[in-house]
Amino acid sequence: MQILLQRLPAQVKHNYKVMQSQRSKFSIPRGVTYLNCAYMSPLLRSVEKAGIKGMICKRNPLDISASDFFETTELLRNEFSSLVHANNPQRIVLISSVSYGLANVTRNVKVRYGDKIIVASEQFPSNYYPWHKLCLETKAELHVVRAPESLVSRGKVWNERLLNAIDQRTKVVALGNVHWADGTLYELEKIRLRTREVGALLVIDGTQSVGALPFDIQKIQPDALVCGGYKWLMGPYSLGLAYYGEYFDKGTPVEENWINRLHSEDFAALVNYQAEYQPGALRYEVGEHSNFILVPMLLEALKQINRWDPARIQTYCAGISHRSIELLRERGYWVEEEKYRGHHLFGIRFPKGTNLELVRERIKKQKISVSFRGDSMRISPNVYNEEKDFERLLSALF
Ligand SMILES: Cc1ncc(COP(=O)(O)O)c(C=O)c1O
Repeated sequence: MQILLQRLPAQVKHNYKVMQSQRSKFSIPRGVTYLNCAYMSPLLRSVEKAGIKGMICKRNPLDISASDFFETTELLRNEFSSLVHANNPQRIVLISSVSYGLANVTRNVKVRYGDKIIVASEQFPSNYYPWHKLCLETKAELHVVRAPESLVSRGKVWNERLLNAIDQRTKVVALGNVHWADGTLYELEKIRLRTREVGALLVIDGTQSVGALPFDIQKIQPDALVCGGYKWLMGPYSLGLAYYGEYFDKGTPVEENWINRLHSEDFAALVNYQAEYQPGALRYEVGEHSNFILVPMLLEALKQINRWDPARIQTYCAGISHRSIELLRERGYWVEEEKYRGHHLFGIRFPKGTNLELVRERIKKQKISVSFRGDSMRISPNVYNEEKDFERLLSALF
């Protein structure tokens, strides 16, 4: 590792020390090289413990009081607010999935014939189908901004295409912060400025970035941010978080659950049916969101991520991958330039003539986990990885 470090640029070399490998906090089996957090994160031991504790609590429901339906979710709201720099935790709600969070968005977005909704090509289905359906219903146009065919300045050109596509007809731009399949980084601040100029909403699926890439709600000012919890937030499956801005304050949620009605804290008065929802964004929370097992797990995970800090996670991932990316490029592989990709998620494209079947076989045999998307391979490291994981990957490729 020392030899490899000597060839790192000074700044990265220094930053490489921002944190040690955190592998001991996880239970990743020995001999496994897990470079696939974009698929699903492994569980932190502390998160496992929180889940088991939550399960045991249900042995005796006498110990579960009315306030327990609200208190841990408040903590989770606060923790996520710190992570994304939201100044009002009451704008954060618990959701069951990204598709759920986006269903609340598309239910309340006002578009009509002639309007335009912009997405990027090959966007994750949960952030495509809701828009597709909305366009079918309203006859608005779904405008898909294609990725460039050429690999020269691919990320830069894709961003330019996105900016150029936004015009007076545009009512919504719905994107990830990074593309889920290859990590292309979208310049959200510029996109936000342009959407403001034309009065369009900006809706972000943060599932493949928030937790490992800094996200600042106050800077980006999205109208909605929706995140699945089981990847970079390191939580369990089936629980995610969403932020809804002012545009949605008086909207209608996709379900009519009791806890989202005003004064639902007063269990004795629940059948004094309420016409009003909880104020603002809180109306969009998923039914049974107090989940006594999953909520403490996600809370524990977010506390740890906040202690690590996404900026340090990026720097750590840059440090452990830098040298290997250099070597890949020397051997004719293509990796997006740093400015236009995440350090935690990026795709590599193979030199012409590579036998992909053989590569897949070798990778599997050596217990390396990455994902394949079309003709590229998606690599997504996190804090439990080390430089030697990349060395193993390279030895399977070369
Ligand atoms: C960008 C992105 N959004 C959302 C999801 C998951 O969506 P859902 O929670 O609707 O299953 C994934 C899963 O891979 C994803 O990569």
